[in-house]
Amino acid sequence: MRLSRIAFLFCSIVGLTGLLIQPGMAAGHKKKMMKKMAPAALVSYKISDGPAITAINKSLTGKAGDKAAGEKTMVNKKKGNCIACHVITKLKAKAAKNPKKYSQMGLIAPPLDGAASRYTEGELRMLLVNAKVAFPDTIMPGFYRADNLTRVMGKFKGKTVISAQDVENILAFLVTLK
Ligand code: HEC
Repeated sequence: MRLSRIAFLFCSIVGLTGLLIQPGMAAGHKKKMMKKMAPAALVSYKISDGPAITAINKSLTGKAGDKAAGEKTMVNKKKGNCIACHVITKLKAKAAKNPKKYSQMGLIAPPLDGAASRYTEGELRMLLVNAKVAFPDTIMPGFYRADNLTRVMGKFKGKTVISAQDVENILAFLVTLK
């Protein structure tokens, strides 16, 4: 009887102390996690009407795009991975020589050959930033967006697939596809 009372008291004290300490610790831990996950602020941009679809006419970074870097991002499986869906005939020979770096070219989206003849630079930028603004039902991912997404895995929350400069670099490559 006495032993169980002592045990009860002991547990109550330990439990209470735990309760008192925990919220403080949790808050500290949360703060640390938030800091780790804090997304970099996205560059803001203005959407306007283009001749074919909506467009973002101004560069996101003000820095010229590097088309070689853009090509790398486009074929990178963890970044653009554009060729998983799109054929780019211009890259076929390179891809055949280096199958490890270039994934199999997909046929589930229109070929990007001649894309710069169909769209203005601003329209292509819009497609890269968030294709869903121009084509609401498309399966093409929104590469430079981090809002209104569902069930994003923790480590990717608040992050865009590619950076604002990646958008400009890919664009520098796309405008060569006439
Ligand atoms: C999951 C597949 C997928 C991926 C990955 C993808 N796209 Fe697309 N993309 C599409 C589809 C599908 C369309 C056709 C638009 C629609 O759905 O109505 C499209 C349309 C386009 C168009 C317009 C083509 C036209 O002639 O109308 C461009 C340009 C484009 N994508 C560029 C890219 C670039 C650059 C990347 C990589 C950064 C990329 N896409 C990644 C599926 C994809």
